[in-house]
Amino acid sequence: AQAAGVSAARPIPIGSAAQIETFRADPRYREALKRYCDVIVPMNDLKWEALRHDRARFDFSGADEIVAFAERNGQALRGHALLWGEALPPWARDMTSRAEAERELVEHISTVVDRYKGRIATWDVVNEVIRFEPLPGEPMRDTIWQRLLGPAHVEIAFRAAAAADPKARLVLNDFNFEEPGAGTAARRRIALDLCRRLKDKGIPVHGIGMQAHLYADRPLDIDGLENFMVELGKLDLDVEITELDVIDWKLPADAATRDRAAASLVGTFLNAIASVRRPKAIVTWGLSDRYSWIHETFPRQDKARARPLPLDADFRPKPMMAVLDRYR
Ligand code: XIL
Repeated sequence: AQAAGVSAARPIPIGSAAQIETFRADPRYREALKRYCDVIVPMNDLKWEALRHDRARFDFSGADEIVAFAERNGQALRGHALLWGEALPPWARDMTSRAEAERELVEHISTVVDRYKGRIATWDVVNEVIRFEPLPGEPMRDTIWQRLLGPAHVEIAFRAAAAADPKARLVLNDFNFEEPGAGTAARRRIALDLCRRLKDKGIPVHGIGMQAHLYADRPLDIDGLENFMVELGKLDLDVEITELDVIDWKLPADAATRDRAAASLVGTFLNAIASVRRPKAIVTWGLSDRYSWIHETFPRQDKARARPLPLDADFRPKPMMAVLDRYR
């Protein structure tokens, strides 16, 4: 039985990030994206590194390819990410003045959001702006944007995105909102504070994106997550799961055991969130274990292939997919 007024059956768009080289090379990958995704996110092609390799021009080739694919298939799109401290071309990392950084940031966001106006419905406006272990009085991550613009970079980015597409849904995206501990609790508070401050200034912000790169060997802070959802609700903010995958580097080698553990972790995580606030989207950071950033970033000691995603390396659905399907 559902609580009155909660339309728990409302389907959630489920989808994946799409990596361009794989997308071009592997027809089975394209087929899986088509078959399993209601929503697609260009994994790297809307990052500065891809778009702004040359300072003088924008290169939309990769993003355009994935956007066109999603449009052909009637899939929604998320844009990732308009401001990030990483994946910057060298010239952007070498900026030296406040005026230059603000001019480049506003020009970048205006150009990119305007190009996909009415087509990319949701944007990760800022990505990973919160300090990993926040110190008292130092909530923001040390990036070129923070160094040159201070905490105002968040506000500048959201203003520029809203001006370029007033109908776009604008999201603050970040990682680790789900582990127990004071550092993570501080990160949740900072995310809420950043959004509250934008709202107080009349700058639109519609949601918080939880990357949700979940560690299979670490516990979830269920109370913390539930409370986070309550606080989001008070601010009238949505939640989106934006980069879901399971880091299984410390789990035993047996594949079936790992797949069960991953599915159960994802189930517990999504249930804690959706029982309080139903996500507007659930996006995994890739689809098949054949291709994932986890292989390079979190390699296993035994050299076995990581199993972070809902399809196995041969594109067969794993237990994690059944968990996601409950929300469609
Ligand atoms: C990763 C991609 O998956 C890789 O292909 C790329 O080489 C580096 O970036 N948090 C984010 C994502 O917000 O953009 C990152 O994506 C993974 C961590």
